[in-house]
Amino acid sequence: MEERIVSSQEQGEDTVLETNLRPKKLSDYVGQKSVKENLSISMEASRKRGDALDHVLFYGPPGLGKTTLANIIASEMGVNIRVTAGPAIERSGDMAAIITSLEEHDVLFIDEIHRLSRAVEEVLYPAMEDFFLSWVMGKGLGARSVNLKIPKFTLIGATTRYASISSPLRNRFGLIHRLDYYDVESLVQLLNRSATILNINFDNEGLKQIAVRSRGTPRIANRLLKRVRDYAEVTSNGKITASIADESLSKLGITSTGLDEIDMRLLEAIVVNFAGGPIGLDTLAAFINEESETIMEVYEPYLLQIGLLSRTPKGRIATKLAYDLFGREYTLGKQGNLI
Ligand SMILES: Nc1ncnc2c1ncn2[C@@H]1O[C@H](COP(=O)(O)OP(=O)(O)OP(=O)(O)O)[C@@H](O)[C@H]1O
Ligand SMILES: [Mg+2]
Repeated sequence: MEERIVSSQEQGEDTVLETNLRPKKLSDYVGQKSVKENLSISMEASRKRGDALDHVLFYGPPGLGKTTLANIIASEMGVNIRVTAGPAIERSGDMAAIITSLEEHDVLFIDEIHRLSRAVEEVLYPAMEDFFLSWVMGKGLGARSVNLKIPKFTLIGATTRYASISSPLRNRFGLIHRLDYYDVESLVQLLNRSATILNINFDNEGLKQIAVRSRGTPRIANRLLKRVRDYAEVTSNGKITASIADESLSKLGITSTGLDEIDMRLLEAIVVNFAGGPIGLDTLAAFINEESETIMEVYEPYLLQIGLLSRTPKGRIATKLAYDLFGREYTLGKQGNLI
């Protein structure tokens, strides 16, 4: 897939940037007020009891800070973090090996936890509930079952697809938190912190222009900041002002609300080519030549969030806002069955 500048998924150049800019303490973590408050109470209570933190599940769109929070929790609890991801654990034995390597109260972070296989997931159930491992080693006649007591640990799972988590797994998390898109004010605060770390000269209006185009997503905000910084250095004295930010981001084809060409193509397909919808996901995907899953997980959430699209049982429909974008007249009642 071609790399979009406003993609919320991690891209090559983000890795270095993210390690520098990733907050290490809860107090540096911007926004997500209620998640932070709740976590902070749970962590303090566990620390007072000298206990491990309950298992935590974070869900929400990519780039909103799930991995960051997992790292912050480990550091605030003063324990090690072991990081892995659903697709990386192929066999139940692999999962058992990871778990047995944990020390008392350690954090095991499993990213994309919805992608664990059934067999691997089953190793987790007794481990999470009773801190007990039970799995079958070997095959056929030589197979034997192994049972093992393990240290108390904290599992932190992250997923962009809450609905794909099986209920036995979901039920074993004591703390479940949804991360939401950030408001402009929080993003300005985040950009302020990042710009200071990166030694960038800016004014607040400049940061605001970046924030409104960041699709409510810290990862995108940091990426755009870097692009605007480059532009400011090349075309002026390096200071990020509103006009510099506006100019450089428009040149990258990003609209004033952070939409890019793919978003526009998607919306145009619904508004212009399919008369506002409803249009099924697969038809839409084939028409704009993208994968259904990518549309559903990457493009749509933000378009739904800012009210350009609606989902109905019959398919996607464009809203009046979307019609306005293309200067088309919107007729109430002609789209979908929500209206
Ligand atoms: N609340 C925040 N305050 C400051 N910076 C943040 C915050 N949330 C995220 N970031 C920044 O955004 C980057 C992306 O966040 P992170 O990797 O935690 O997202 P994620 O939700 O794990 O994404 P994915 O679903 O793709 O794994 C981080 O490196 C960090 O710099
Ligand atoms: Mg992550």
